[in-house]
Amino acid sequence: MTAAYPALRLRRTRASGWSRRLHAENTLTPADLIWPLFVTDGQGVEEPIATLPGVSRWSLDGIVARAKEARDLGIPCLALFPNTPHDRRSHDGAEAANPDNLMCRATRAIKDAVPDIGVLTDVALDPYTAHGHDGLVDDSGYVLNDATVEALVAQSLNQARAGADVIAPSDMMDGRIGLIRAALEDEGFVNVQIMSYAAKYASAFYGPFRDAVNTRGLLKGDKKTYQMDPANAQEALREVALDLAEGADSVMVKPGLPYLDIIRQVKDRFAVPVFAYQVSGEYAMIEAAVAAGAADRDAMVLETLLAFKRAGCSGVLTYHAAHAARLMGA
Ligand code: PBG
Repeated sequence: MTAAYPALRLRRTRASGWSRRLHAENTLTPADLIWPLFVTDGQGVEEPIATLPGVSRWSLDGIVARAKEARDLGIPCLALFPNTPHDRRSHDGAEAANPDNLMCRATRAIKDAVPDIGVLTDVALDPYTAHGHDGLVDDSGYVLNDATVEALVAQSLNQARAGADVIAPSDMMDGRIGLIRAALEDEGFVNVQIMSYAAKYASAFYGPFRDAVNTRGLLKGDKKTYQMDPANAQEALREVALDLAEGADSVMVKPGLPYLDIIRQVKDRFAVPVFAYQVSGEYAMIEAAVAAGAADRDAMVLETLLAFKRAGCSGVLTYHAAHAARLMGA
């Protein structure tokens, strides 16, 4: 008799579909997805975004229709971003605290029509400022920290009053989570969550998003004095530790795929809910590869989303959310 060779055959459990399913260490379901949507003014408006093919800005009626679609697909949460009309953008971004701004109107409309879907609202001033920065700038163009945080607190309360379920600060100012949490508690919003964009990098992958909210042409300079340096990982852990200590319920790493190592380290170190944002540039890369005939969209979408689960994510913000949920057989 020949000696047992090889002693172990790892291919054995891969040999059939049922067995691969049985041995899968991670799974994807529509409940893993958060769908980012861009809100624009008007009625019956759909504006396709050229650099984000397949994604449109929608007026409120379209946003409500997307919310119903998401509910029917089993997607638990939407993330909203406004394309603020240009005449409502200003040096100080005051429109962010207007109770009738696009974000608040969209939040109320969704909560009215689809009460059981989560609404996550982005907190940062960039869609409201004339200079495209996430905060208030001084004469030299520097983004001021503490003055910005005050504005972010007002913006957060404004969103909570409109019915937001999850406040998601994406601005990267220091100390904002603690002050936002305190203000929410003071006003009785004890169950409004905070998902902190804790490790958000100054990334080249945000270009199409800036087209979607019309800030690309406005932005003066870059965001490197507040967003993180892609060279750093330990600093991301410090950011996460601070935001958790200040009261964040969950943390986000952004962008997604180029930062899977950060997701895994955060999950291992803190054992808290971690989310990834598969950002606009990542979506655009997949779509460009598909358009070039270089990739199979469906396989690529599912593989990248599964990679986030494997890295330790509780969920993923992705522009492919509805498509992916359909692929999962929702
Ligand atoms: C800004 C914000 C950005 C994104 C989400 N919130 C862009 C930026 O920081 O300039 C990017 C999301 C994406 O690229 O899909 N507060």
